[in-house]
Amino acid sequence: MPIISEQTIEQIRAASDIVDVVGQHVQLKRAGGASFKGLCPFHKEKTPSFNVNSARQMFYCFGCHKGGNVFTFLMAVENVDFPTAARMLAERAGIRLELDEGAPGEKGESKDVLFKLNEQIAQFYQRVLLDHASAEAARKYLEDRKLTGEIVEQFGIGFAPPQKDAIVMWAKKNKFTIAQMVAAGLLTQGEHDPEDLYDRFRGRLMFPIRDEQGRVVGFSGRVLHKDQHPAKYVNSPETMLFKKSRILYALDKARKPILDSRTAIICEGQIDVIRCHSVGINTAVAGQGTAITDDHARLLKRYADAVILVMDADSAGQNSAIRSSEIFLAAGLGVRVAALPQGEDPDSLILKRGADAMRDAIENNKTALDFQIDILTSRDDTRNETGLMRVSRALLETISKAPSAVQRDQMIQQAASRLRISPAAFHQDLRRVRTVAPRADDSEPPPEKIEHPREEIELARVLLHHPDIANFAAEYIRDDLLEDADCRAIIRELFAHGHDSDFHLAAALGNAGPECQRLAAELSASDSMVVGEVGPDRAAQDFILAIHRRALLHRRRELEQQRAAATVRQGAGPEDADYARIDMELKQLILDLKQMQQGWEKAAPILALHLGP
Ligand code: UTP
Ligand code: MN
Repeated sequence: MPIISEQTIEQIRAASDIVDVVGQHVQLKRAGGASFKGLCPFHKEKTPSFNVNSARQMFYCFGCHKGGNVFTFLMAVENVDFPTAARMLAERAGIRLELDEGAPGEKGESKDVLFKLNEQIAQFYQRVLLDHASAEAARKYLEDRKLTGEIVEQFGIGFAPPQKDAIVMWAKKNKFTIAQMVAAGLLTQGEHDPEDLYDRFRGRLMFPIRDEQGRVVGFSGRVLHKDQHPAKYVNSPETMLFKKSRILYALDKARKPILDSRTAIICEGQIDVIRCHSVGINTAVAGQGTAITDDHARLLKRYADAVILVMDADSAGQNSAIRSSEIFLAAGLGVRVAALPQGEDPDSLILKRGADAMRDAIENNKTALDFQIDILTSRDDTRNETGLMRVSRALLETISKAPSAVQRDQMIQQAASRLRISPAAFHQDLRRVRTVAPRADDSEPPPEKIEHPREEIELARVLLHHPDIANFAAEYIRDDLLEDADCRAIIRELFAHGHDSDFHLAAALGNAGPECQRLAAELSASDSMVVGEVGPDRAAQDFILAIHRRALLHRRRELEQQRAAATVRQGAGPEDADYARIDMELKQLILDLKQMQQGWEKAAPILALHLGP
């Protein structure tokens, strides 16, 4: 990802009001002052506990404790990384990013130029399809295949003009260089004469391939007639933008629906995906005609907990389903397989028998393991021993891919009962398979809630809600007294700028980590409850004392250990110099701790002493 400069990030932040941005995802109601309330998009709830504060430009949910700024909100709700969230906000605010973007890559072309080129030529292909005389056959073809005008528009389908030189002319007219056309994978060098450039997609129906964010990264081109060319589909080569193993067709459209249902439907072809979407099966995606990869699985894992593989009923389709299911399993996704009637793919099934037939097929899925058992037992006779061993070995291979022990155990029970073998025997064999090919982390630890020391959190909270105390508190707290990095970052900002009238904690912590942002939001959203009875000054004093006390207790433990060590080392008694120094400091420390318990007035000089000059 290209680096976005700090200034640009600030510019984006300033231009993106959190109430507007959140408002596009959550119905917000004014709740007095700068406060807005709505139903939390991050957990299910009936009464609103999700708060947005326009003055602080932060959000916080009292239900699930998620919180942060406009960037972290978008990252969480869209499931994207920071640069992507920044880019989305920039786009929304009309801020141009290309100045910072895209270090020039191979052949001096920046990604940005290639994105622009792809987008423009996709539009050109579509104009050709809709208007040009040379596209008559293509229009007829689309009509025959029932790919309607609406679908053409929605998926940006186009037609690459059949005339030689057509796209070279287009490039000239649109100020793109030949090198850029080559870098985009649209022009390619001839095998025999490198000077001879030709158009990879001439005369093909063009399907733009978009990344998750909807940017055109490549194309897939289909011949109009099967015998026109040996390759029915030609795809863009790997380019700076197009990495086959990382792109799933239509994920830009399916992303949200998948996130809602937590399940993705994996088809084999792009026309299948298009057909599914056109009848409302909008969680469908596909690879690029190549095998599913680990990268695909990881990409989907961000949106889905499970996948349903929709596979052709032929044996190639079955084998590829088994391979893909192992990859998805290994990524920790639940995998189910939906078999289609012999000879049909989703496109033909929907056209022939309607969307409901497709929905039935999807609903009629079985677990990847059951699917595999069906296939293996139909190919091998498990009544004889060698057949049974072959089948069980293949199953163990798949089972061993599952990262969770629970999942493996379930699969074993299922396999054992279907093959009439004891689960114990299966387990025994599985251990052998897994020790041969050990897998990383056996059980994923649940994400831990990060604990921060209470006294530091509470000090930050008081400072945040009573900025006038900052100067006073800063006299008694130095960075090295604060143990927690997140609290330290927040308190440091509050000391430095808390009293400025235009201070924004969210903005000041722009570069801090997500937990720090979350904590800042949590503190901002809360009332300064602790302050209630004692008043902010007293409260601050109490927390400052607690922080110092903690440091002194820590020092006391250290000294006690040193004293013990000195005693052992030299069999030393009170006359030993080292021992005496340690003992003195320790006695002083204990006196100090006592005095610190007698109220702020008595304690303050001690604190000053320990802080040093
Ligand atoms: P299929 O041969 O199953 O075709 O290829 P399809 O999707 O049903 O296509 P139509 O309906 O005939 O148009 C499945 C996928 O494999 C890739 C394409 O992505 C295609 O969608 N493929 C196929 C290629 O990349 N190259 C080919 O030559 C054929
Ligand atoms: Mn098809």
